Amino acid sequence: MIAIAAESPEATRAVGRRLAGLLRPGDIVLLAGRLGSGKTVFAAGVADGLGVDEPVTSPTFVLVHEHQGFLPVIHADVYRLGSSAEFDDLELPSAADDGVLLVEWGNAVASSVPPDHLMVELVVVSETERRIELTPMGTWDTRPLEEITA
Ligand SMILES: Nc1ncnc2c1ncn2[C@@H]1O[C@H](COP(=O)(O)OP(=O)(O)OP(=O)(O)O)[C@@H](O)[C@H]1O
Ligand SMILES: [Mg+2]
Repeated sequence: MIAIAAESPEATRAVGRRLAGLLRPGDIVLLAGRLGSGKTVFAAGVADGLGVDEPVTSPTFVLVHEHQGFLPVIHADVYRLGSSAEFDDLELPSAADDGVLLVEWGNAVASSVPPDHLMVELVVVSETERRIELTPMGTWDTRPLEEITA
């Protein structure tokens, strides 16, 4: 696990932007952390880094937003889903086959996505500071995650 301190929303966004440089088609990034921890801010940074130039907002009510950057970016929030069966029905991993899938509250569906994914947990340290914990799962172990600590 790699931990990065982010002392402002912009710093969290910048870490997401740097992560985007490592992402490839088919990648899955699960975002964890309590309400208001910065999952959407982080996702917006990833989308920015992937060339999405429209605003990235919380998909809490519609569950899924699709953006087009250099790759398709599928941004989901599963907070309101009743069960992992509902998540399975959305077939998001296959929908995002040629792009990147970002899932807020993704820890709840970790066992429903392929084993090769990145878990990103946003830990609230103070009102303005977050600790971003990156845990590689499966083949993510071989990705150069240390590149994004800079
Ligand atoms: N270091 C920081 N990184 C990210 N967000 C921060 C930070 N410091 C303060 N914030 C604030 O915390 C809030 C994070 O909101 P955001 O919508 O990204 O959280 P979330 O985890 O997606 O919430 P939800 O669980 O409702 O989806 C924003 O208001 C942001 O300005
Ligand atoms: Mg959110």
